[in-house]
Amino acid sequence: MKNVAILISGSGSNMVTLAQSMRGDHPARPCVVLSNRPDAGGLAKAQALGIPTVVVDHKEFKGDRAAFDAAVIAALDPYAPDVVALAGFMRILTPEFITHYAGKMLNIHPSLLPKYKGLHTHQRAIEAGDAQAGCSVHEVTAELDGGPILAQERVDIAPDDTAETLAAKILPLEHKIYPETLRSFVSGAFAARD
Ligand code: GAR
Repeated sequence: MKNVAILISGSGSNMVTLAQSMRGDHPARPCVVLSNRPDAGGLAKAQALGIPTVVVDHKEFKGDRAAFDAAVIAALDPYAPDVVALAGFMRILTPEFITHYAGKMLNIHPSLLPKYKGLHTHQRAIEAGDAQAGCSVHEVTAELDGGPILAQERVDIAPDDTAETLAAKILPLEHKIYPETLRSFVSGAFAARD
């Protein structure tokens, strides 16, 4: 059985779908949910699912990313994670952190990567006049939102879409592809492909 640590910053809807998928004959279980924000709505959802929660508040580190990342590693490693799944975790991680969990990290990003890395993805897709938008699950490497893409889903952008309506259309697609991809990942499907 593989252990999956899930990192969040907000409402944690992706975390919930990941956690709920790891049941029965699934080869993994959630071992901890970590938030960098003490007020993240996802913390209560994780507790309701019976998953241990940890807060490492980035504000206590006053911009020292290396110290913050070291504290996150110190918080996660007692749970022996085999996979670290970023699920709306809105902090940029240092190369040291990514090296520590090399080959074990996944992220969900609300764009059709390689388009629109970073923030405000839905607005940028609308402003560019794109016909479609979507979401991507990718492996995490030192390049922000730049690791190998493992899965994508796409949706048409309607003429009257706003960033909010587009995000609401894409979020259910995230909830579909992230659990599917996590299951394949922990089953070794992508390693076998390489
Ligand atoms: C999701 O749309 C996720 O793709 C996005 O934040 C949202 C979190 O929602 N992630 C990023 O923008 C990462 N750069 P959730 O907390 O309800 O899962």
